[in-house]
Amino acid sequence: MSTPDTDHAGDVRRRFGRSWPILKERLAELYSDAPDFADILTRFRERVIAAAMARPPALHQLDAVREANPAWIQGPGQTVYSFYVDRFAGDLAGLAGRIDYFDDLGVTWLHPLALLEPRAGDSDGGFAVADYRKVDPRLGTMDALEAIAADLRTRDIGLIVDIVCNHTAREHAWACAARTGDRVYRDYYLVLPDEESVVAHERDLIDVFPSSAPGNFTYDADMGGWVWTTFYPFQWDLNYANPAVFAEMLDTLIFLASKGVQGFRLDSTPFLWKATGTRCRNLPQAYALVAAWRAAMDIVAPGVVLLAEAIEGLDEVLPFFGGDGPGCDAAYNNNVMTALWAGLADADAGIVRRCMEGAIAKPAKAVWLNYVRCHDDLIWNTLSDYAAPEDLDRWSRFYGRGEGFSSGRAFHTAGGGFPSTNGMAAALAGLDPGDDVQAPGAKRLALLYGIVHALDGWPLVYMGDEIGLGDDLAYAENPLQAGDGRWLHRPRMDWDAAARRADSATLQGHLWKTIAGFGVRAR
Ligand code: GLC
Repeated sequence: MSTPDTDHAGDVRRRFGRSWPILKERLAELYSDAPDFADILTRFRERVIAAAMARPPALHQLDAVREANPAWIQGPGQTVYSFYVDRFAGDLAGLAGRIDYFDDLGVTWLHPLALLEPRAGDSDGGFAVADYRKVDPRLGTMDALEAIAADLRTRDIGLIVDIVCNHTAREHAWACAARTGDRVYRDYYLVLPDEESVVAHERDLIDVFPSSAPGNFTYDADMGGWVWTTFYPFQWDLNYANPAVFAEMLDTLIFLASKGVQGFRLDSTPFLWKATGTRCRNLPQAYALVAAWRAAMDIVAPGVVLLAEAIEGLDEVLPFFGGDGPGCDAAYNNNVMTALWAGLADADAGIVRRCMEGAIAKPAKAVWLNYVRCHDDLIWNTLSDYAAPEDLDRWSRFYGRGEGFSSGRAFHTAGGGFPSTNGMAAALAGLDPGDDVQAPGAKRLALLYGIVHALDGWPLVYMGDEIGLGDDLAYAENPLQAGDGRWLHRPRMDWDAAARRADSATLQGHLWKTIAGFGVRAR
């Protein structure tokens, strides 16, 4: 008779037999030019087998159940709730005391935004990670996170965590070692020797934060050159042409999965691979990297889900699903989301229909994450394949410059584009927290949430939308936030307002009942 351990060894053998050939192929696409490619493969092989064997027994069943029914991912009633832990509940202890809230709302996935230890000071809302193996100490500990994941598991709620895989903080141990001149770690980053090469590279690149962090390179005296920094100067892009970097991030995924994390939001996937003379966005190798992580996780932790954060045109997002092969299991349905707001402004669903027709091209094995708002800005430029420049301009002005019902605010744009928009869904929909249930803004918000719940995929509720939470105007007083308008739509949860959710005669109760009612949870 077999023991549970030998069963697990058998599962690992079977998973390895199925997914190692695919992982090998993806690694070859990325690294076959390396003179020691055969050794690299041997190391990956040993790594994934050891990690798969070490997968904690408490998680074996999760893997087995999902593997036995790959269609689980399309199962109905799966809803994601996305929030900043500190804004929602103060810290992880506070969060642990609020889990019933999610149960009541019918949520099946919790996505606390960037919660690993960030650099001190400005950290781009936690997206500049100093240590992938520690939780932000202001929020709690890894043990506390593990305990929450275990509690959620008993309620059939999965935990999704951000993996900021494109860059580390300048203060991460790898970057610190690189700064002291360690050659091994220097090769984890990308450094240009002089301004001439910076100028040459910039010709092809697009600014992500043109007003708050112009340019894609930052001079660093310790590094003796210009470090590649697509986002803020303190966010150092990783060099994925170095297989050691891919391996480190794989180890990070494995480590966090062993703590009970069931899903990873792979941050900024379009930017993972750089090649001189290109826009360094959505290159074939970026898709191969994600596919390689998926193939590796199919061996180590098959129950874990990978979500691509690629806020791009649809044609650039779709390949992240990996076609017939492995790829991300989920991706933000960014085009449809943006189109919904556009359609609402025009009272014309044409743009929504065009984007929905395009989104159908997603492979059946994967799911769209359908959403109304998130913690980032609404980027009109991503609709440029589906709408004329004058349309993008009109929507950008409507929402960002108060030309319609919305009180959103304009943010920045890459050169030649149209400013994106900041603001909570309620503010964009023209809803004031003091309005009554019949207010047009309440109807707009309910309409958008109804649509994202009706679409094929997983609906996402962004923190506070379920009670029509408004903007945080006070962000401008906070020196760490004032320079980045996205803080407008990252308010603190208003628990006094949330307490009114039980009374559907109030605006909060009405919206809560409506949104919770859309997300009928399959038990
Ligand atoms: C992602 C995050 C965003 C962050 C950026 C850089 O787009 O959603 O908030 O600023 O990555 O990490």
